[in-house]
Amino acid sequence: MTQASPLASPLAWNLVAPGYTELSLPLFAAFADDALTLAALPERAHIADIATGPGTLAIEAVQRGHRVEALDFSRDMLDILAQRAQGLSHLVAREGDGQALPYADGQFDAAFSLFGLMFFPDRARGFAELYRVLKPGGRAVVSSWQANPEQPVFNAVFQALREALPDLPKGGGAPPLSDGDTFIAEMSAAGFDVSLHPRSHRVEESDISTLWQGMQRSFAPVVLLRHKLGDPVFAPAAEAVENYLVERFDGPITIEMPAWLAVGVA
Ligand SMILES: C[S@@+](CC[C@H](N)C(=O)[O-])C[C@H]1O[C@@H](n2cnc3c(N)ncnc32)[C@H](O)[C@@H]1O
Repeated sequence: MTQASPLASPLAWNLVAPGYTELSLPLFAAFADDALTLAALPERAHIADIATGPGTLAIEAVQRGHRVEALDFSRDMLDILAQRAQGLSHLVAREGDGQALPYADGQFDAAFSLFGLMFFPDRARGFAELYRVLKPGGRAVVSSWQANPEQPVFNAVFQALREALPDLPKGGGAPPLSDGDTFIAEMSAAGFDVSLHPRSHRVEESDISTLWQGMQRSFAPVVLLRHKLGDPVFAPAAEAVENYLVERFDGPITIEMPAWLAVGVA
């Protein structure tokens, strides 16, 4: 059993869902494109997208002619998927836990979990479930964020939050599965033959204030914090954070977002 992340509950993702399509989707869609390439799918493949969010990879895969089963535990994410998928056939989405898949053994050509399985409290079960539902020789593609300590914008946001809210508990350190060796070891333990592929895409914003406003609606740890504190406490802190950031960052903002895409052959 691995340690639970604060992002392991549907609440965080229900809160993020409204801002996700508008602000985060282009970044995640770029990684979905990488994952589909790495999966080297046969034509009209039968695939599973676990922790699909608003169907980032699932909808792209259906548009490429594949048959997709998509699963997520956030009702609000699935509602957005349903709106985005109107008129598409060959896409079945359902609510469920990625640690207990509602699918029979050995039925998929490929299975994906992009920036989803990394948050499962029991990642070993998440990997084992992907392995179980794949045909022999089928591929799983799973992604996580690389540890990226040299990240001036995010470091400044968290520093500013700590100054504005001194009682804020200290962050939990590196994100789950950010260490490549751990990623390979955990996925291999489920039976996969694993290769790890670094990929990176950028977030670009016109200025730091626009970025910070967007983070308050789409960046899960900040959205969760706002929800926990309530607006009367959060709003003045958010203003202080914005002032702190504006003093330090001028002009357009570019943030490199390096990730790991692990490919496992079952
Ligand atoms: C960062 S989003 C990624 C969504 C999508 N895969 C993408 O690449 O855009 C993380 C998603 O994982 C889902 N998730 C997290 N833990 C889950 C679990 N145990 N079971 C099902 N979905 C889960 C969340 O609801 C959220 O939609």
